[in-house]
Amino acid sequence: MNPLTFVILSTGLDTLKELRGALAANEDTRLLVGGDDPEQLFPEIVRLRPNAAIITLGAHPEHDLKFVARLAAECPTTAIICASRDASPDMILRSLRAGAKDFLRLPIIKGEFETVLERTAEFCAAQVEAPKKRGRVVAVFSSKGGCGTSFIATNIAASLPSRTVLVDLNLQAGDLALFLGVDPKFSISDLVENRARVDDSLLKSYLAPYSTNLSLMAAPREADLADDIEPEHIFEVLEVLRERFDYVVIDPQHTFDSITLAALDQADEIVLVLSIDIPAIRSTQRALAIFDRLGYPRHKVRIVVNRWSKQIDLDLRQVERFLGQPVTAFIQSDYLTTVNSINLGQPLVESDPSSRIAAEIRRIAATISGEAPAASIAEPRKGLMNSFFRRQPTGDPNFNLRARIGKEKAPAAI
Ligand SMILES: Nc1ncnc2c1ncn2[C@@H]1O[C@H](COP(=O)(O)OP(=O)(O)O)[C@@H](O)[C@H]1O
Ligand SMILES: [Mg+2]
Repeated sequence: MNPLTFVILSTGLDTLKELRGALAANEDTRLLVGGDDPEQLFPEIVRLRPNAAIITLGAHPEHDLKFVARLAAECPTTAIICASRDASPDMILRSLRAGAKDFLRLPIIKGEFETVLERTAEFCAAQVEAPKKRGRVVAVFSSKGGCGTSFIATNIAASLPSRTVLVDLNLQAGDLALFLGVDPKFSISDLVENRARVDDSLLKSYLAPYSTNLSLMAAPREADLADDIEPEHIFEVLEVLRERFDYVVIDPQHTFDSITLAALDQADEIVLVLSIDIPAIRSTQRALAIFDRLGYPRHKVRIVVNRWSKQIDLDLRQVERFLGQPVTAFIQSDYLTTVNSINLGQPLVESDPSSRIAAEIRRIAATISGEAPAASIAEPRKGLMNSFFRRQPTGDPNFNLRARIGKEKAPAAI
């Protein structure tokens, strides 16, 4: 058997020596490179593609976890092992959320180290055996209800070009079945209950088909069925779904509960929806600050303004500055058009494909699927912006967005 290849990142010299020693004592491992500078080591790891990378968490674990998240995104076949003297459940959870496959307590306990090595070997064997299909998970999220996330999630799902499942994670009161005009017989609680024995045909029976490309994984019919669903079930269910679908579009709740966090953690992309009103802007700013703390890279988040109108008397540039990130899409406000499509039980991209809202949602979907370059909407569109600013060329000098929204520090810009 080929030895498992390792790299080590550790800012503490003693820890580096300790880890080196432990690896050297095991003949089935080979250390390729060890160092203390993440920026130097990152390109080395990308080039060498080791089986595993041990990353020690130092005095500022948030920096180290950001590095872990970056590495996990760039090198998914490298097993990342976080090592720390702080082995609290919180630190372990944060490590796993950032993308670590395992956690090693320091100082090293021999038996534990061997278990970690065994698990790393299993992980590496699985990488070689069958590279599993990994559909793209897209969460359409707003930390405030009523911004139109269910509407947008449904329409993005209906616009994606290949096999897509829309997952209703409003477990207590999900209503996506109405948005699609389907009558599901089963729900996510059935999938959770039978997840250990799920195969293609069982999974198919739990889904409500809408079209050749689109199916719905509905929320439970009875709210109390949701009580038995735990965050780890959501992890497993999303894994099952992404192995079988090209896109998994999630409509989570508007709170940072553990189910929502499990879904957001697993999302490759978060479409963060807001409307241009002060409570929604403040709520979005808080959501971004939470994403930062969770170590989500900012490129995972696309900000989408819904119910946009050039009549809204607010300086968009101030909003973007406050959020620390540009808005990537503007969906027009048109209550009648949206509500008619919802009442019809048909996504607007089908019931009124030539509408401006449908066109903008198709553009968002095309950037998700890679059919359109992200830049085409990442660029704030000048036509819209100019017309907006023409209305208030200098802005209201007495108007200070941050003062009105609160004293929180705006999250760092990307
Ligand atoms: N672009 C829009 N313009 C006008 N009304 C909209 C728009 N998008 C959504 N709505 C309306 O907002 C309401 C809430 O939408 P919904 O998708 O249920 O929000 P959420 O899931 O965020 O709570 C619906 O009545 C819908 O018709
Ligand atoms: Mg909703």
